[in-house]
Amino acid sequence: MKKFTYRTVTSDYASDWRVLRLEGARDFPLGFLVTLEEMAAADIARCGDILKGGHIRGVYDVEKLVGFCGYRPQQLEQTKHRGEIGPFFVTQKYHGSPAAMVMMTGVIGEAREDGLEQLELFVDTENSRAIAFYERFGFERIATHRDGVRIAGNSRDDFFYTLRL
Ligand SMILES: CC(C)(COP(=O)(O)OP(=O)(O)OC[C@H]1O[C@@H](n2cnc3c(N)ncnc32)[C@H](O)[C@@H]1OP(=O)(O)O)[C@@H](O)C(=O)NCCC(=O)NCCS
Repeated sequence: MKKFTYRTVTSDYASDWRVLRLEGARDFPLGFLVTLEEMAAADIARCGDILKGGHIRGVYDVEKLVGFCGYRPQQLEQTKHRGEIGPFFVTQKYHGSPAAMVMMTGVIGEAREDGLEQLELFVDTENSRAIAFYERFGFERIATHRDGVRIAGNSRDDFFYTLRL
């Protein structure tokens, strides 16, 4: 486990991050709101600009980026106790390894350091692997979000999960 590390993905990793996003959208469409075509339209320069926003965290096998997650603490006075995570993705070769665990542990730790009291996420109701993973960390299912996403025009439901920190 020692070899995996968690840190912010900087624009130096724009090309690697772009490859991972494309893999995710292609192989795990239930895990992404963005379509493969929308992902492909974002070139390396655009990916670098998104990364400069500072909202993407990564898990690294030594220096190789093998997964990423969005981390968005709320900014408003009345909601700043909350933060949203997602998308949350680890490249397939590393499924079942500690990589996803290191990334989730990292983002939970960062949220605590930031003073957040609640992490939130949405997950497709049929994404059973991700659901099992989130529940292992103590995320609780709060609600079903009906018709949250339409994949190729087909309506899909999400679960809304929260973790009290
Ligand atoms: C979600 C994800 C990050 C989890 O990482 P991982 O390395 O696969 O997770 P783990 O292997 O540690 O844990 C997965 C859990 O699902 C279980 N599992 C494995 N295959 C499963 C399946 N087909 N159905 C249900 N559960 C499954 C595992 O046994 C494990 O459960 P446990 O903790 O009770 O043992 C990773 O699978 C991923 O990137 N998926 C594609 C993107 C995605 O869907 N992201 C979520 C978007 S909301």
